[in-house]
Amino acid sequence: MKITADQLRNLYLDFFKSKGHAVISGASLIPENDPTVLFTTAGMHPLVPYLMGKMPHPAGTRLTDVQKCVRTGDIDEVGDSAHLTFFEMLGNWSLNDYFKKEAISWSFEFLTTKLGFSPDQLSVTVFRGEEGIPADEEAVAIWKSLGIPEERIYRLPREDNWWGPAGETGPCGPDTEMFIDTGKPACGPDCRPGCHCGKFIEIWNDVFMQFNKTAEGKFEPLGRHNVDTGMGVERTICMMNGLDTVYDTDVFAPIMAKIRELSGKEAFETPEDVRSSRVVADHMRTATFILGDQKGGVTPGNVGANYVLRRLIRSAVRHARRLGIAPGFTEKMAAVIVDEYKHVYPELDQNRERVFQELLAEETRFGKTLDEGKREFDKTVAGIRRKNEFMGAKDPNYVPDTQISGKQAFRLYDTYGYPLEMTQELAKEAGFTVDVAGYQECFKAHQELSRANVGSAKSGLAEHSEETTALHTATHLLHKALKIVLGDHCNQKGSNITAERLRLDFTHGEKMTPEQIKAVEDLVNEQIKADLPVYRDMMTLEEARAAGATALFSSKYTDEKLSVYTIGKTRDDFFSKEVCTGPHVEHTGVLGHFKIKKEESSSAGVRRIKAVLERPAQ
Ligand code: ALA
Repeated sequence: MKITADQLRNLYLDFFKSKGHAVISGASLIPENDPTVLFTTAGMHPLVPYLMGKMPHPAGTRLTDVQKCVRTGDIDEVGDSAHLTFFEMLGNWSLNDYFKKEAISWSFEFLTTKLGFSPDQLSVTVFRGEEGIPADEEAVAIWKSLGIPEERIYRLPREDNWWGPAGETGPCGPDTEMFIDTGKPACGPDCRPGCHCGKFIEIWNDVFMQFNKTAEGKFEPLGRHNVDTGMGVERTICMMNGLDTVYDTDVFAPIMAKIRELSGKEAFETPEDVRSSRVVADHMRTATFILGDQKGGVTPGNVGANYVLRRLIRSAVRHARRLGIAPGFTEKMAAVIVDEYKHVYPELDQNRERVFQELLAEETRFGKTLDEGKREFDKTVAGIRRKNEFMGAKDPNYVPDTQISGKQAFRLYDTYGYPLEMTQELAKEAGFTVDVAGYQECFKAHQELSRANVGSAKSGLAEHSEETTALHTATHLLHKALKIVLGDHCNQKGSNITAERLRLDFTHGEKMTPEQIKAVEDLVNEQIKADLPVYRDMMTLEEARAAGATALFSSKYTDEKLSVYTIGKTRDDFFSKEVCTGPHVEHTGVLGHFKIKKEESSSAGVRRIKAVLERPAQ
């Protein structure tokens, strides 16, 4: 059956209305009551208090709606045929009203009579039982009574057939999932719904929410028999229209058309171009919905939801550049998306200007970094060419060097956000290649170093969390600010960090005046405001000293390579450079507002400062 997203939403809501459900409005993408998740990930999310039985829902015990959802767990998979970071979820709920028999029967009825799927196309999965919770034979019996044969009912473990909670605690339970067989060949003898080979596509999930996961990780009976269901709009219309990918559905048609228009291509031929066009489509749609949300407030940044938004926009910008799309495209893409969806989500239109402004600002900011990276790349290539010329003039047998080193490729990635593929493409255009193995080595060394730093930091810090990491970086800024305001004699004598505050002991003979305290605070806050990058490099103590790094407790260090943290516009134009095990934040912008709470004597000739970072709640 051919169908549009508009038709599917209406069919669904009308069907459940006819079964006694109240149609309610979907909620904001920014969760109200759950600090453990960044975005609304399912239709049940805004309904958690009612599923828990904390209070009755004003619209009754049978509800239905369409909910915008963002899930970024699979962000790296985007670009294949089915993964999306934003999607619409149709859902129906029983708040301690009907249970399995009605839920499953109505799902079956809707799929076969309203959407026109043949029962033969359907396969289902059910919970096979685990850890004292029995197999869901009741669901099996109901599916059988509806005509689904035993061989298309799969009993699977908790990993597959248990849903929730949405955050870390809350309602959850066993589920039964409905899959459409695309008719593609099986990927092997074990091919089954849920194996992700693309033969079976999940379109609907009925969750029987009878349990509550506690903060201790225990599953306790909720004492209520709720039903929570979720049907993915994009996937369902994809299946109904017999399409291969969600990007071929009507919701993506104007978005993909705009991408083709902006890139000046009639179609995308190579797998890389196809992938890039999908990433642009997906990420721009998600970013537009986040920025255009009724609650507003989320703007691109470096932490939490703000960071997710930044990452989505930046990734879209990179892929758009790959396709040859000119700067300023984010606004044009958003205009198409707002116009397409505003009849369902009027908040997009109401926030139109803000969406455009924020997108353009972030695109411009990131464009500058990319341009700097390009200049860095050009300089490298020019340097190699000069060397080749020089050597070639001296030695006619000299074989010219045409390779970008792994280290340089990694630097482009680490400092300028260039993924390896982009550097490879630039290299190709210049007639160069990239030392991929060398790049991977640098990448691995970097990862190991991060892990090692986290490990060693754990022993020195009370705990390694976002707060302590931020306070750690603030300590470096404070140390340098003290040297600037009071004099170079201010050396760190000790440091202690908890999740709430930092404490720094330093050599200085007298009490600081209020003016000096203010000057130090201002200096630190200026560095935070400048959103300076934090670089990490490995070098020996000697090299570190030569580079101008402050090394504390120097007797502890040996000849081994140490990590040096530089906070500054560049590695050479810096505010602070210290030998340290880390960990540190990546940009000072995330630190919030620095405030000295106390300045007192610690011992003779040593002062003690306690300071905090006042950070907005994420
Ligand atoms: N909450 C369930 C899901 O997201 C329906 O699959």
